[in-house]
Amino acid sequence: MNDLDRGPLDMTAHLDDEGAEVALRPQTFDDYVGQQKLVENLRVFARAAKDRGEPLDHILLSGPPGLGKTTLAHILAHEMGARLHVTSGPAIEKKGDLAGMLTNLARGDVLFIDEIHRLAAQVEENLYPAMEDFRFDVIIGEGAHARSIALDLSPFTLVGATTKTGLLTSPLRDRFGFSARLDFYTHDELTRIVMRSADVLSVHIEPAGAQMIAKRCRGTPRIANRLLRRVRDFAQVLHDGVITEDVADHGLSRLGVDPIGLDAMDLRILTFLTESSAGRPVGLETLAAALGEESHTIEDVYEPFLLQEGLLLRTPRGRVATEKAFRHLGKTAPRAAVGLQDPLFPQGPADD
Ligand SMILES: Nc1ncnc2c1ncn2[C@@H]1O[C@H](COP(=O)(O)OP(=O)(O)OP(=O)(O)O)[C@@H](O)[C@H]1O
Ligand SMILES: [Mg+2]
Repeated sequence: MNDLDRGPLDMTAHLDDEGAEVALRPQTFDDYVGQQKLVENLRVFARAAKDRGEPLDHILLSGPPGLGKTTLAHILAHEMGARLHVTSGPAIEKKGDLAGMLTNLARGDVLFIDEIHRLAAQVEENLYPAMEDFRFDVIIGEGAHARSIALDLSPFTLVGATTKTGLLTSPLRDRFGFSARLDFYTHDELTRIVMRSADVLSVHIEPAGAQMIAKRCRGTPRIANRLLRRVRDFAQVLHDGVITEDVADHGLSRLGVDPIGLDAMDLRILTFLTESSAGRPVGLETLAAALGEESHTIEDVYEPFLLQEGLLLRTPRGRVATEKAFRHLGKTAPRAAVGLQDPLFPQGPADD
């Protein structure tokens, strides 16, 4: 069989996981599942800018990893018919790196800066006039003879992505024309994502199998796609290749994914909070040290989902497991752990 005989889908069968992630990435707003309000707004902004013949205003996307920030940056560039330039905060080390990048942009190009909260302070300051006035100030000469020359830049769109909006300085945040936070996906949306990915990968999956994966992927498309690829392996080797509900359930259990999608680290966090601390608040640093994990990873990657599921609370004195967490782990909550109520401020006899 020569290459021309192969269908376009066949190629993906040979791709590794990273390649598969790229292949599974939606290219247009129509392919992008979920985040409905955000996507509708972006469609309007893109359309309006296009009709006016102007570049799109700068856009900031924030939210936990794997929810589709990079994907949206690609889609925005694609929908604007613009070229996309991709970089990241830590990659732009010096003012000169930024100057090189900005002077390379043509009118309407999209510059995507991932992890924008990690820009060096000096680089960030030089980004302000570029964002606001499409101007870059260069200093020529030294000491008393130094003077500043403003370079004109082509009007461009900056799309910034961050897992931590809290770490962005307000001058930077204020220079974005629109700032959006991505939320975890619903089970229905994730089911659609899994069905779509299965289609792209030519995997035979039953709707109930897709639902099973959707329920157990921490609300995150990247995890859904990864679990789909692993369950596909089980289906192929141990079954007849079709992902049914049972095949998915069996595969996910073998992968150690629990019934509501918590992974090993989620469970370690909750076990620590329910067992070692027995429901008392634990400071983030203590938790991180006890689990041998970086505190910012716990904060950005694990906590958002545990918070949204009502399994963990952030209180002024630290993190606590909720009653739901105790129940999920088959334990009885001590009297201090009170559902979604903050144990530091229990409903006292305030009503009297
Ligand atoms: N709305 C969506 N519809 C379909 N697939 C999606 C969607 N969002 C994300 N994906 C899939 O999930 C994968 C991860 O998304 P993406 O790389 O955009 O996440 P991210 O938010 O940039 O994560 P990180 O913070 O780790 O950079 C993509 O390759 C894509 O296949
Ligand atoms: Mg990304």
